Amino acid sequence: MGIHFGVDYYPEHWQRDRWETDAELMKEMGLTVVRMAEFSWHKLEPQEGKYDFAWLDDAIDLLGRYGIRTIVGTPTAAPPAWMANRYPEILPVDREGRIRGFGGRHHDCQSNAVYRGFVRKIVTAMAVHYKDNPNVIGWQPDNELGNSHHDLCMCESCRKNFQGWLEKKYGTVDRLNEAWGNAFWSQEYNEFSEVFTPRITVTGENPSAMLDWKCFCSDLIVDFMKEQTDIIRKHCPNHFITHNYMGFADKVDYYDLGKELDFVSHDQYPGGFFADESHGRGDILASTLDVVRSYKNKNFWIMEQQSGITGWEVMGRAPAPGQLSLWSLQSVAHGADAVVYFRWRVCAMGTEQYWHGILPHSGNPGRRYYELKEMIRKAAPLMEKMEGSMPAPEVGIVYSFRQNYALQIQPQNPNMSYTEQIQEYYRAFYDRQIPVDFVPDDGDFGKYKLLVAPLQYLMNSELEERYFRYVKNGGHLVLTMRTGVKDETNICMTDRELPGRLSELTGSEVLDYDCLRDARVSAVFQNESHTARNWCDIITVKEGAEVLAVYASEFYAGEPCVTKNEYGQGCCYYIGTEPDEAFMAALVRYMTDAAGIAALGNADEGVELAAREKADRRWIFALNHTDMEKTYSVDSSYRLVYGEEAGKLNGYEVQILERKI
Ligand code: GLA
Ligand code: ZN
Repeated sequence: MGIHFGVDYYPEHWQRDRWETDAELMKEMGLTVVRMAEFSWHKLEPQEGKYDFAWLDDAIDLLGRYGIRTIVGTPTAAPPAWMANRYPEILPVDREGRIRGFGGRHHDCQSNAVYRGFVRKIVTAMAVHYKDNPNVIGWQPDNELGNSHHDLCMCESCRKNFQGWLEKKYGTVDRLNEAWGNAFWSQEYNEFSEVFTPRITVTGENPSAMLDWKCFCSDLIVDFMKEQTDIIRKHCPNHFITHNYMGFADKVDYYDLGKELDFVSHDQYPGGFFADESHGRGDILASTLDVVRSYKNKNFWIMEQQSGITGWEVMGRAPAPGQLSLWSLQSVAHGADAVVYFRWRVCAMGTEQYWHGILPHSGNPGRRYYELKEMIRKAAPLMEKMEGSMPAPEVGIVYSFRQNYALQIQPQNPNMSYTEQIQEYYRAFYDRQIPVDFVPDDGDFGKYKLLVAPLQYLMNSELEERYFRYVKNGGHLVLTMRTGVKDETNICMTDRELPGRLSELTGSEVLDYDCLRDARVSAVFQNESHTARNWCDIITVKEGAEVLAVYASEFYAGEPCVTKNEYGQGCCYYIGTEPDEAFMAALVRYMTDAAGIAALGNADEGVELAAREKADRRWIFALNHTDMEKTYSVDSSYRLVYGEEAGKLNGYEVQILERKI
């Protein structure tokens, strides 16, 4: 039987005589895999060069006797105190030049040679030690790379590495000066060795330098992980390597990181971190799972699925009965092949005393244990059948880390956020029960009937060409405000009106614009009045292009706001603003109808439909994200395989339907 459910386990936090009880309870619950050791560097190397793997061997063996396999985490997210004391240069330096101290986690500089030496040594020792252990099946290098490294590290080692990275990219310092526009405010460098890391400045920074800095930091994280994956692959060719991502987190380009992994994993906390607005919001959760699948265009694992109240110093809401199962099966619906819970038992000590596990502090199984046990009993055999199936959306949304970086550096309108706008477009499809993939800008556009590419702010001729080709071959493309504004080095384009050469595709040009700040502008689409937010492009259409919506207030009342242009065998829409929810919904309805994209079915508000399919079979998941009774309907050829009464959902209930195709 394949592995479908597991748990993150920290035996080193508990007495040895409890381990056996834990293993029994895990087995009884249907768990077949654990992840261990990703923060236990001191236990594994209590003194420099003295390794002690005996306790971990013991835990791996004991769990193995209960049919539970192990994923080993390398402990590099928590360097021990002896190291930080003897080699203080491994500690990271923040933007203000302050050294960040020991006491949390990730207190390390990822470019520091001394630190990298310790990483190499312990990872090698572990890989050699576990390569033939029959209970070890895979590895997770470090933990949530990019987490806790905000704005870090600006130390001398990182500065030298940044200089080397720039030299490799630009070759000569003159080219660097040109790419960064260093003539402005006398920022020219005479040599690469003069380049600074962006420590806190007196005024705003150079946007081109900041873009390269963010890309450098991302590359450094990939390089840091690759050093570990290379070692593990060399010694353990039969083990898989994965890493736990954080959805839309942006410190490392997850597409790049994914190239070093067999598959991607993700940490899903639907309750939010403590309690934020997105608590349990189905669309946000779904978009997060879809973007994770898209990073490698492949099914994934959940390496940490919420299993109780989240909380460090303060806590979030208690998941209601049914919600933990709902969230687990939502992960499966979007492509998770295994769900590993965080964590087995809530810790009695340390920072995460209130980040609850399946078991409470007492260690006695309670509501959460029994609910998940029952769900696993019913879902595991179905997941067995689903092996090899995947969601197969007809809509793609282009998602790029570089666009995100550039728009974080200059949001232009303080209310504008790249990922939020991406999620707003996503939501309009979600509300219509239409599945979505995310796509990198060098991804396979051709497989989508409709491709939405919001905020294509940085542009280059290859990407332009890819959009032209997509539409020429029959694709329906959506471009938006702030497209083609900058070149790849984050310098404003000056050769044509916006959106540059793409205006031949959009059939329109943007000759002027308005940044709305808090103002709202009205717009009319299909005789309905709507709201335009944050930004209004003032558009001039060329002959042949169609005006779909016009502004209805401000000095540009009556001017086009949304246009459509036939080109080759396809068409290109241009949306000159950030439409509000109802406006976005109306546009998406129009565009999906025009592209001939069908919904998975009909459902009440608060119910999500999602699908997985393989050659001969298709499954639809109906997920009720509310505590109220709801209904839905799908094609009558589907047969209920999970749940009670097809079409009628109790609060937080999930049903799964199957059909042959
Ligand atoms: C993250 C980490 C875990 C744990 C949880 C809860 O997802 O990967 O180690 O810290 O958050 O805070
Ligand atoms: Zn550093």
